[in-house]
Amino acid sequence: MTKPLRIGIAGLGTVGASLARLLQTKADTIVHRAGRPIELVAVSARDRTKDRGFDASSLAFFEDAVRLAGEAEIDGFVELIGGSDGVALESVRAALSRGIPVVTANKALLAHHGVELARLAAENGTELLYEAAVAGGIPIIKTMRESLSGNEVSRVYGILNGTCNYMLTRMEREGLSFDVCLKDAQDLGYAEADPTFDIGGFDAAHKLAILTSLAFGTEIDSGSIYVEGIEKVTAEDIAAAADLGYSIKLLAVAQRTDTGIEQRVHPALIPAAEAMAQVSGVTNAVAVDTDLLGSIMLAGPGAGGDATASAVLSDIMDLATGVVPPTLGIPVDKLQPYRRARMRAHEGGYYIRMSVHDQVGAFAAIAARMAENQISLESIVQRQRAGKGDKATAMVILVTHETMENSVREALRAISDDGHLAGEPQMLRIERLD
Ligand code: HSE
Repeated sequence: MTKPLRIGIAGLGTVGASLARLLQTKADTIVHRAGRPIELVAVSARDRTKDRGFDASSLAFFEDAVRLAGEAEIDGFVELIGGSDGVALESVRAALSRGIPVVTANKALLAHHGVELARLAAENGTELLYEAAVAGGIPIIKTMRESLSGNEVSRVYGILNGTCNYMLTRMEREGLSFDVCLKDAQDLGYAEADPTFDIGGFDAAHKLAILTSLAFGTEIDSGSIYVEGIEKVTAEDIAAAADLGYSIKLLAVAQRTDTGIEQRVHPALIPAAEAMAQVSGVTNAVAVDTDLLGSIMLAGPGAGGDATASAVLSDIMDLATGVVPPTLGIPVDKLQPYRRARMRAHEGGYYIRMSVHDQVGAFAAIAARMAENQISLESIVQRQRAGKGDKATAMVILVTHETMENSVREALRAISDDGHLAGEPQMLRIERLD
């Protein structure tokens, strides 16, 4: 029989344990499809004795993942520890430095060190694979790196965080509070160890940084991403958006513009009839707009043990067959520097919710400030009144036509200075999906 591919796994959490089980239970299928066996020979985990549903008796156990990566007799190192630095980074460096290919699900690691690690892999004649790092089990990395390689991409966008999508879906359908939905998402194992990574938009941003590089052939630059989380989205916004025919999703978008490439993560209103708006619960979806193929969308499980392990396994099988393209789609020395488009230059429609002192002339003054800033209004609706007399306030929802973000910010500043607002205005972007 052909020589087995010997694998070491660092990190036996949900995904690592699923992967170890699959390597045993699917051994026959794997050898049939990859043409050689894939053998798990070494592991590293915090707790050596824990029963994880697979036979670990014959495996070499390493307390230290960096030692496993640097010394074990393996043909592939699988990093499932997580975190952008520390042991994850050191162990991946150790494996690549001695020419051992690496498979990782670690989006934070790639978002922060992807180019350095791709270079290290190339210098040592080895590979770095990361299908599971973006959108869990959805095969978006291979799709972008291989299947779309003849296309020019104008935009890649999607729902890249299952926790946020799960929460927004339940808030929309069941009218539940933010906190209840977050607790359920944590109990179901969707959320990151620190859930602010999810709800603050940072997890989606890490994934977007990787997609941007693949889409535009640029160096990864996660520090330039504009990030807004879902903390500020209220039940009123979800209800008002629904009345206007929109659904609110946490979108991650990378888009080529005249001034550079926009990278942004923020809650966005999208037309409720669009397929992306139907993506519910923990499901992720990624859409790519291209010149030859038009637009495609892939949707599926963005988290979970077996779903994510499915993506890791496909990378390991690529190592076994030896069919591996460059880490970021093109040789690492051909990547272009990332050129950032400023968020203030972003053009799109805007949803604005304001609590306004209910006085004669308030609407007219708001409309005048909008006009001064060349903003065309699609609709202006008063939804609720509260309080009495001098204390009366009205909730006003404005929807703009396509305009520049800077104009909207200037108009809101002027409206606030005029003294008409009874609180901070809410501003959400409307994403055109056509
Ligand atoms: N916490 C992530 C999410 C899953 O909610 O989508 C892994 O990236």
